[in-house]
Amino acid sequence: MSESLQFTQNADRATVYAEITPQIEALISSETDIIANLANIAAVLKQAFGFFWVGFYIEKDGDLVLGPFQGPLACTRIRPDQGVCGHAYATRETVIVPDVDKFPGHIACASASKSEIVVPVFGKDGEVFGVLDVDSDRLDDFSEIDVTGLGRVVKYVEAVVEHGRLQT
Ligand code: SME
Repeated sequence: MSESLQFTQNADRATVYAEITPQIEALISSETDIIANLANIAAVLKQAFGFFWVGFYIEKDGDLVLGPFQGPLACTRIRPDQGVCGHAYATRETVIVPDVDKFPGHIACASASKSEIVVPVFGKDGEVFGVLDVDSDRLDDFSEIDVTGLGRVVKYVEAVVEHGRLQT
């Protein structure tokens, strides 16, 4: 396993996604523990992009429960009818919110969070295993580049979940 992340400082976001994605794949393929893998993915995304908050919520008994993350402390449990995470979970679609103050029901874990993207992570039976939540302290910080870049990262997580090697 590589122990240091390699990426070009100040490069555009698409370039950095292209640089870090193979490293994430390598990290995941050499470890079977889901918590370890999600923790390192959160760390890689935080380090590469400097996002305000990066983390996973994992579905447990119908709620989204806080998983591995990087950033300030966060709410521990989100219902499917709550917040941006709940919306992505319930609709099974990636959600971009350019201004969280304009999203009805947004859960303000930190007032510094201004925009966010949430990507659902699917399990082996097509159920939503959890979500990847990325928050920025800048308005309108996410675009289709992040949908694609984070989508690729999530595909690796899904592949590992699908192989049934990982348990939470
Ligand atoms: N913003 C999220 C809540 C989680 S925190 O931001 C980490 C939401 O509204 O779903």
